[in-house]
Amino acid sequence: MTETRRIIIDCDPGQDDAVALLLALASPELEVLGITTVAGNVPLALTSVNARKVCELAGRTDVKVFAGCDRPLQQALVTAEHVHGKTGLDGIELPAPQMPLAPGHAVDFLIETLRREPAGSITLCPLGPLTNIATAFAKAPDIVARVGRIVLMGGAYFEVGNITPAAEFNIYVDPEAAAAVFAAGVPMTVIPLDATHQALTSRDWVEHMRGLGPVGAAVASWTDFFERFDKEKYGSEGAPLHDPCVIGWLLDPTLFEGREINVEIETEGRFTRGMTVADWWGVTDRPANALFLRSTDRTRFFALLAERIGRLDA
Ligand code: BDR
Ligand code: CA
Repeated sequence: MTETRRIIIDCDPGQDDAVALLLALASPELEVLGITTVAGNVPLALTSVNARKVCELAGRTDVKVFAGCDRPLQQALVTAEHVHGKTGLDGIELPAPQMPLAPGHAVDFLIETLRREPAGSITLCPLGPLTNIATAFAKAPDIVARVGRIVLMGGAYFEVGNITPAAEFNIYVDPEAAAAVFAAGVPMTVIPLDATHQALTSRDWVEHMRGLGPVGAAVASWTDFFERFDKEKYGSEGAPLHDPCVIGWLLDPTLFEGREINVEIETEGRFTRGMTVADWWGVTDRPANALFLRSTDRTRFFALLAERIGRLDA
């Protein structure tokens, strides 16, 4: 048996964040040291409630959930209720969480954990705007070199943008934070829209999930809700499960293909603020700073998801 990978999930649930949390909590290869929440898809108060609802749905009230930053570093918060609904987790009404938030700020949890644990032993998994991570790096620069890897969902190259013509939502919400994280020198895996738009649910898969039990049924109701946005916008067949790709890559990197390239964050462009400027073709001599994924093996990814979510309903 390979060693357990120790992760901290930084998220803004979000139906697809919620599925990512379930996938991680169902996977014995991963030890979730904590979940940190950030303002993104919906304001912080809601992402912090939603993360706890998901832990309770998974029967994992032992996992600590820390609330983090309630706004981006320099600009007003942009949210995505038009995608995720008013609560961020529209689709099924889950009970209000009984488990409390863990005491303290998410940023302090990140700093303390990275200082305490062996250097290089922790993987950070950001599924939302990078505000918490950038704030922790700014407050405690000594932790940067202690991060083993960052595996994040964000950005786009061939697929360009989903919130503006040029920018993907997670990067667009806090471009200054993204710029700081991409420049930090931590080994990074970046999972952009190019890969996640290939992680599209199918009707058969959703119906299979619905039949599994309460957890599968929740996943089915979330994807039912969430797919309408992409169907209307892109004419796509189902819902793209963006954030679960992060956990999918940790569990089986062969599900994805990509290249080690340079990725810079545009913070100034009049039309392109928040763009991930990805040097896919290597036309600059800027050094590679990320493994940037471009494609997903949809069949194997959804088989893995179904098998793992099924464990929570067994
Ligand atoms: C990303 O933005 C959010 O709406 C999703 O949760 C995902 O993290 C996709 O652009
Ligand atoms: Ca997210």
